[in-house]
Amino acid sequence: MTCLDSLYPFLRPALFHLDAENAHRLAVRALAVHSTVRRGPVDTRLAQRLWSLDFPNPIGLAAGFDKNAECYRGALCLGFGFVEIGSVTPRPQSGNPRPRLFRLVADRAVINRMGFNNDGMEAVATRLATRERGAGIVGVNLGKNKETEDAAADYELGVAHLGPLADYLVINVSSPNTPGLRALQGKEKLAELIRRTRAARDALPKRPPLLLKIAPDLTEDDQRDIALVALDEGLDGLIISNTTIARPPLACSDLAKETGGLSGAPLLQPSTALLGRMYRLTEGRLPLIGVGGVASAADAYAKIRAGASLVQIYSAMVYEGPGLAARIIAGLGPLLSADGFARVTDAVGADHR
Ligand code: FNR
Repeated sequence: MTCLDSLYPFLRPALFHLDAENAHRLAVRALAVHSTVRRGPVDTRLAQRLWSLDFPNPIGLAAGFDKNAECYRGALCLGFGFVEIGSVTPRPQSGNPRPRLFRLVADRAVINRMGFNNDGMEAVATRLATRERGAGIVGVNLGKNKETEDAAADYELGVAHLGPLADYLVINVSSPNTPGLRALQGKEKLAELIRRTRAARDALPKRPPLLLKIAPDLTEDDQRDIALVALDEGLDGLIISNTTIARPPLACSDLAKETGGLSGAPLLQPSTALLGRMYRLTEGRLPLIGVGGVASAADAYAKIRAGASLVQIYSAMVYEGPGLAARIIAGLGPLLSADGFARVTDAVGADHR
């Protein structure tokens, strides 16, 4: 257990007195200077090779926590098998006015309408340039600037600048907080966007895998179209899912009215159901990353059985603290054994067999 983790039960009430975004800034700063802790014990059953990358375990930190590549080293030291930074846009932008991040404590949930606040690709590239390759897997999640009309041009720029520094790249078209962004998930627009972004990726000397991150609020037709386009256009994987604009019944009914994307516990069931559907629609031919509401080893394992090769977490760390990844990783081995699986890869998509 890291010292940050053992202190978390005492720190949490003080953090929860702060505005959620200030608390998040503090967490990023603490992790940025906390990159020397030892990683947890290695469970070789959890290791897998995907896209020519060696993942020590399947649990990653989701995009949005380390938007600017400030603390990915500290996150890797918490035990995460990989970290996804971003979303990064070509030009820096300040995002929506504050407050724009809300804790729904009784629901173990979060609502955010950050709006891609980030330092821009040049600043992020400068930080990533000092990265020691091979010292942990770091993916880069790309977004578009709010004012950009030709969305694909922003993803092309992101690929050209950050692709050489990334272990994998993500086209994020699923944030609910950038006007018009999610419309890029429609069939024709999506095919065009992927074609152009992929061409930019193919022009790089070392071609990182290219994934697409999708929203949980898609119609069945959208889901079918995305599966077809993903396979036809040669995407390397899908990330399922981003936050939801839906509002299931919530205990924090006042905060539920806030505009933005809902994440955390209420997203677990719908995002895992969508993951399972996308696994079936893509016939298990594409690696999938499952994200949404994971707060325990059992939640992560449910995503793996539904079809996820990898799983990411974010909101539950607000409630459970920085040791959550290590606890989930420790809990996965026994779950595999209980089902008679020798390796995590044997459990991927088990629900469909
Ligand atoms: C996010 N998420 C996110 N996703 C993304 O692709 N780009 C981004 O910039 C962000 N930003 C962001 C900010 C905040 C404050 C939150 C809470 C979330 C979405 C995140 O990566 C993840 O998909 C969802 O939060 C669902 O997972 P959890 O939080 O339920 O584990």
